Amino acid sequence: MNYRFAYRPNYDLYSATTWALFALVAVAVPAGIDLPAQPFQLAALFCTVLAIVRIAQAALHGRRLALLRGRPLWFLDLRSFRRILRRVGGDDLYLGHGFEWGQPQAQAAFDLAKRDVRSIVPARQGESLGAGWLHGIGADREQPLTLPLQHAMGHTLIVGTTGAGKTRLFDLLIAQRVLAGDTVIVIDPKGDRDLALNARRACALAGDETRFRFFHPAFPDRSVRIDPMANFTRPTELAARIAALIQTASGSDGDPFKAFSQMALTQVVTGLVGTGQQPNLLAIKRYLQGSVEELLDRLLSDHFRTIIADWDHRIPEDVRTARNVETRVAKLVAFYRRSIQSHPEWESPAVEELLQRYEHNREHYSKMIASLMPIMSQLTNGVMAELLSPRRIRSEDQGISDTQTMIRRAEVVYLGLDTLTDGFVGKAIGSILLADLTAVAGERYNYGVSNRPVSVFVDEAAEVVCDPFISLLNKGRGANVRLFLATQTLGDFAAKLGSTHKTRMVLGNCNNLVALRIKDGETQEYVAEALPRTRLQYLMHMQSASTLSDAPMLYSAGATQRLMEEDAPLVPPPYFGALPNLEFFAYLSGAKVVKGRLPILRWPEERP
Ligand SMILES: Nc1ncnc2c1ncn2[C@@H]1O[C@H](COP(=O)(O)OP(=O)(O)O)[C@@H](O)[C@H]1O
Ligand SMILES: [Mg+2]
Repeated sequence: MNYRFAYRPNYDLYSATTWALFALVAVAVPAGIDLPAQPFQLAALFCTVLAIVRIAQAALHGRRLALLRGRPLWFLDLRSFRRILRRVGGDDLYLGHGFEWGQPQAQAAFDLAKRDVRSIVPARQGESLGAGWLHGIGADREQPLTLPLQHAMGHTLIVGTTGAGKTRLFDLLIAQRVLAGDTVIVIDPKGDRDLALNARRACALAGDETRFRFFHPAFPDRSVRIDPMANFTRPTELAARIAALIQTASGSDGDPFKAFSQMALTQVVTGLVGTGQQPNLLAIKRYLQGSVEELLDRLLSDHFRTIIADWDHRIPEDVRTARNVETRVAKLVAFYRRSIQSHPEWESPAVEELLQRYEHNREHYSKMIASLMPIMSQLTNGVMAELLSPRRIRSEDQGISDTQTMIRRAEVVYLGLDTLTDGFVGKAIGSILLADLTAVAGERYNYGVSNRPVSVFVDEAAEVVCDPFISLLNKGRGANVRLFLATQTLGDFAAKLGSTHKTRMVLGNCNNLVALRIKDGETQEYVAEALPRTRLQYLMHMQSASTLSDAPMLYSAGATQRLMEEDAPLVPPPYFGALPNLEFFAYLSGAKVVKGRLPILRWPEERP
């Protein structure tokens, strides 16, 4: 039987002491008694050698036991951080230090967990909550843990309760990607001051603090202005970007109000683009609720100007003399209809698009877009108008950005969404910005942007999960976008997405999983199930005794030991609940499980 409990008491120490005593006796005896000294000297030598061997073994075992006490928090200064990064190399992402967690580690943990660990090793005084011994199992073989960047394309899900270390892990990863020159986008629904601060510090570390961009609706003075409608190849794209914000009762795209709103948006955006106007949120809202005549007037005039030479002198009489814009448009439309009868090639898709709106019953129209208008208002009210529909006065306005600019300039953008103040608006901003990013990153060729990698970090990811988010997850690899999603529980996702099916779609897209301390039982189960399984051994003791009633003197007894084996999770659910702060289990590239701990980056003191 090769079953051995690795954390037995330190018997080697007893043995060492005994051999040492023998050695002493062997030295002492010949001095007192008149016997030949040589055999005793030889015996003393023999005992000393054995004592030394045992002392070495005892020291080794003692060290292993001491490691079970866990570690204090680990602060990493920037010089050591850079040294580690050099060692890790540019093709890998550094995730902290740790060791691979396989069957031997699972077995050791299983054996320890069966006993009272504190009886084997006294806990460190005043240490934080958590089972430090989990890391102690392999702490003597600690190495830098790495994730190949190629595999990070498969996205990474980070799960952990408040205070477990999600933000510290983000710090570590953000700093690396900033140093590597990626475009970095940090989406922070709840607004963690540290996250913004550390992203800025990372830019300073990389030697260019101007790469940092701060966006936060609650601080409009300091906030960069972002136009989420700046990039598109077709008007339908922008329409879909906004329509995705409409929450339908059924949660499906088949909702007639949503479908109508999307059509209405397409008409307006087409009109704006056709007349050479920037289709930002403010303009879209104005033409959605206002009359369509002004837009149609411009569009038709522009249209005729391009197809009819000297149009301004050949405007039909009834159009020229129309007293107001309504009559003028009515006459223009009539002229358009007449002329495409004789010149079918004069038909314009943009005009046709807008004519649908023009000819639609007004009352019905307002009823159908009733769920869209509040969204448009919220995105264009007060400070939002300037923040999300910025007017570009100079072409290179430093206070304005958009996804294309972010990628081109390798910006590091912190997006505070302030969902605590207004959940809906925060989520809406996150959604349209992600949709914009998906469009640009997915079709870089169309937008003429470099293939610079984009790393996106989303804290409290369940807060902003939405359809564009899901399509970014799907397209990520081809688009050279790496997503890192942090969440406290998986139930949050199911609650926001409305179905476990969608939740699995989202999470199934993450090839890498980092589990910090998890409080929620259901999440612990989910994570444990996502990891591989292993086989654990244990000894089964059986004792039996029997007497026969008709022959009470015939007594038999037996004791047997059997080595049993059972199938078990590599990391059972309760372990996730027992992790100390900043410690984690991770399942990397769907291939290996590691146990790790995170350093806290120690930034230099800053001048206020
Ligand atoms: N600079 C620091 N000094 C000491 N402890 C820290 C420091 N930064 C973070 N911690 C500890 O690390 C833990 C993880 O913090 P954090 O990453 O912000 O958690 P999360 O984002 O998961 O809520 C916290 O419990 C905190 O006590
Ligand atoms: Mg946090």
